[in-house]
Amino acid sequence: SSKGSQTYLFIHFSFIFILFFEPTVILRTTSKSVWATEFEPIELTCLIESISTNNPRIEWKKIKNGVPSYVYFQNKISGDLEHRATLREPANLLILNTTRSDSAQYRCEVAAIDDQKPFDEIVISLSVRVKPVTPRCTVPESVTVGSTTELRCVENEGYPPSQYQWFRNNEELPDDPKTSTRFINSSYVMNTDTGSLKFRTVKKEDAGDYHCQARNEAGYSKCEAQLMEVYDQDIMGISLKVLGGVTALILVTVGLCHIQKHSYCSCKDHRENNNKCYVLFYSFYFYFLQGHFRHKSSFVI
Ligand SMILES: *[C@@H]1O[C@H](CO)[C@@H](O)[C@H](O)[C@H]1NC(C)=O
Ligand SMILES: *[C@@H]1O[C@H](CO)[C@@H](O)[C@H](O)[C@H]1NC(C)=O
Repeated sequence: SSKGSQTYLFIHFSFIFILFFEPTVILRTTSKSVWATEFEPIELTCLIESISTNNPRIEWKKIKNGVPSYVYFQNKISGDLEHRATLREPANLLILNTTRSDSAQYRCEVAAIDDQKPFDEIVISLSVRVKPVTPRCTVPESVTVGSTTELRCVENEGYPPSQYQWFRNNEELPDDPKTSTRFINSSYVMNTDTGSLKFRTVKKEDAGDYHCQARNEAGYSKCEAQLMEVYDQDIMGISLKVLGGVTALILVTVGLCHIQKHSYCSCKDHRENNNKCYVLFYSFYFYFLQGHFRHKSSFVI
């Protein structure tokens, strides 16, 4: 047993000896996973814990999709970080103005030829936050009471992916209308991940100016407010409109026949007269279209 403990002590002291007296290069970093915000500076730390070589060789490589490329090589910043980064004591990489394409893994490599263990490396993962751009918002112009409708909001630049928030008349809609006395009668379902705002049964009070905001840790962007009108289902009104439209159509047809008969313009006539005839016809046509069939989603033919 005493022989066993002697062996143990020997190994133990040998290890301490190697650690303290054998020259070894050891690297350390303050963070192996770093977040930066686009257009702001970030420093990737590569600290040398132990070394005995005076002029170690320092290199940084960027590894994107498994492909390494030089960032710092032969004492110079190279590649797409050129003019945007510097090396700081002892071996830190300072990126002055990060861009979204800087998201990658970075490997700090230190070679110290006079050391017993002459090489060490550490890998740091950098993720760049990107502010959302102005989202594309889709708000129906008009809907009928009792119908179902969906408002959409989306943008694809933000990183991490945006969260969405909807506003009506500049007032923020709660994620769940049941939680608010103000929106308790509304039937919407909001998805803050996809930007969808779905009304199961549109109410008169749902009308208003809607806009949406895309947000992440880097900032936010919003779209212009768009008006959503809510109409009553008006059977009588629709019938009258249809009747009016049909009447107009008949009048136009009768009018054209009349004109043809009195040979004000006929297909056999001169070109000039023919043009007049078309102008007359299209004037009627557009008047008819705009006056009676202005498209509303509550009145679809
Ligand atoms: C960072 O780069 C962007 C374009 O790449 C530029 O518009 C911006 O002015 C730069 N910011 C600084 C602080 O240099
Ligand atoms: C919700 O509906 C109830 C019953 O119809 C009504 O009394 C109340 O005033 C409504 N609340 C809002 C905020 O519109």
